[in-house]
Amino acid sequence: MLQSFRFNSVDFILTRSLVSLNRILNIWKLFLNPKLLLVRFYRYLYLWTTHNSFKEEFQLKSSQKTTELTYASSPVSVSYQLAKILKLNKTHTFLDLGSGYGYMCTDIHLLSGAQTIGIECIEERLLFSQKMTHFLKLNKHCKYIKNDFFKIPLPKVSHIYITCTCFSSETLTKLTQKLNSIEAGTVIITVTRNLSVKNVELCKSFNATFDWGRDMIFIYRKI
Ligand SMILES: C[S@@+](CC[C@H](N)C(=O)[O-])C[C@H]1O[C@@H](n2cnc3c(N)ncnc32)[C@H](O)[C@@H]1O
Repeated sequence: MLQSFRFNSVDFILTRSLVSLNRILNIWKLFLNPKLLLVRFYRYLYLWTTHNSFKEEFQLKSSQKTTELTYASSPVSVSYQLAKILKLNKTHTFLDLGSGYGYMCTDIHLLSGAQTIGIECIEERLLFSQKMTHFLKLNKHCKYIKNDFFKIPLPKVSHIYITCTCFSSETLTKLTQKLNSIEAGTVIITVTRNLSVKNVELCKSFNATFDWGRDMIFIYRKI
């Protein structure tokens, strides 16, 4: 009994250490990508000096009152995980519904070569995305549309990413209706909330670390 307990503990510690080592190695790989480092540097410099998004991110972390338009970015580790799991490459087009300051779009393109499109309704955030893209000379690959994504037809893409964390149940219902009409084969990725869209299959769900803590990611395919 004692022996088996010891074996289990050693096994557990060994497995945890290997998982942690793998995580550290994965994060380090990011720093080997000079463009990504440049994005980080530019992003933080710009935000520290001009933007209030840190204040907004803090709002989400500290669970104060949030709205549908509350901003919090998906970290680069999530883009990295998604690019790997979805096997993204330059033949794909990745749409971020509610793209905020455009970090997800930039990171996904830099990590995978996929074309990206962001739709964002707040002008200040959209202008930042465009400035950053221009600075990094990525205009051809990362495009932004200023609009409410409920008010326009969605562009034809291979992947749609939505951070549903702050969405009310009414917004989630509206989103479900919107996504009912997208083409078969499109991959939908949601954060926090799962979807009950017609004709979709859940391919994978997993936990990831966001700035506001651990949260769920769901990957669906429209059939
Ligand atoms: C939580 S942030 C996520 C930012 C980005 N997707 C990321 O993961 O880094 C959500 C963004 O969606 C935008 N948003 C919310 N509802 C929207 C709508 N109906 N149309 C366009 N943008 C919307 C908000 O303004 C906010 O910038």
